[in-house]
Amino acid sequence: MTDPIATSAARLRASGFAPKIAVLLGTGWGPVAAAVQGAVDVAYTELPAFPTLRVGGHAGHVRLGRIGGRDVAVLAGRKHAYETGEADGMKGAIRTLAALGVQVLLQTNAAGSLDPAMRPGELMLITDHVNLVQRSPLFHEPGDDRFVDMSAAYDPALGAQAKAVAARLGIALHEGVYAWVMGPQFETPAEIRWLRQLGAQAVGMSTVPETIVARHAKMKVLALSMFTNMAAGMSAETLTHAHTMATAKTGTPNAVALLEALIPALEA
Ligand code: HPA
Repeated sequence: MTDPIATSAARLRASGFAPKIAVLLGTGWGPVAAAVQGAVDVAYTELPAFPTLRVGGHAGHVRLGRIGGRDVAVLAGRKHAYETGEADGMKGAIRTLAALGVQVLLQTNAAGSLDPAMRPGELMLITDHVNLVQRSPLFHEPGDDRFVDMSAAYDPALGAQAKAVAARLGIALHEGVYAWVMGPQFETPAEIRWLRQLGAQAVGMSTVPETIVARHAKMKVLALSMFTNMAAGMSAETLTHAHTMATAKTGTPNAVALLEALIPALEA
């Protein structure tokens, strides 16, 4: 077998788990991995379709196991477009999940808030996105199916289930539009004023490319943001990565509780 996706899917299948749902962990969401029972970890370095990561000394791994009795694949580690300028860093990984039989991609990320009512440490259901970067992981893709319909990129029924579970747990879950910026620099206040006029509630440097690959692969997508800061110019703070990481910790307990309850409840 020389096809990297088939090889990677076979390696994950050998764990004995057959997940229909996969979770891609963003900043602040890492502790979700501790909720996986019977965990088997497979390093990205063992998976030829997966990216090589260098951020923070972590190579990245897929954790297979169960949450609430349900088989899951949890991806810890993401290749960001700001590392290379290319949007296809996670293409092979997402396609491997599809080959494994995953039907739902649950994405998580850290984002800046553009709405004064959405505070650092709080969560938001992504209902839609703006691909400001105007790059695609489907550049160079042959075939007419590259013209993917994005009119319901974030599955409305899965979103409704997430809202219901959050309400049951008493966790505030905002809703809004996520604007994808390339980074790695944060935005200027002028850029943030412009994004607010566009109708975005959240801004971040990830998620959109993976959503596009997943929709092309006919997977459903559910995506959640954790606000780690008010966006540039909306508070007196200076934005730093360290500050973002520190604030993410305050949102982590709700993030973990929501996913632990949501994953077993999701009906794809
Ligand atoms: N801008 C872009 N990406 C981010 C931010 C932000 O303010 N916060 C966390 N990720």
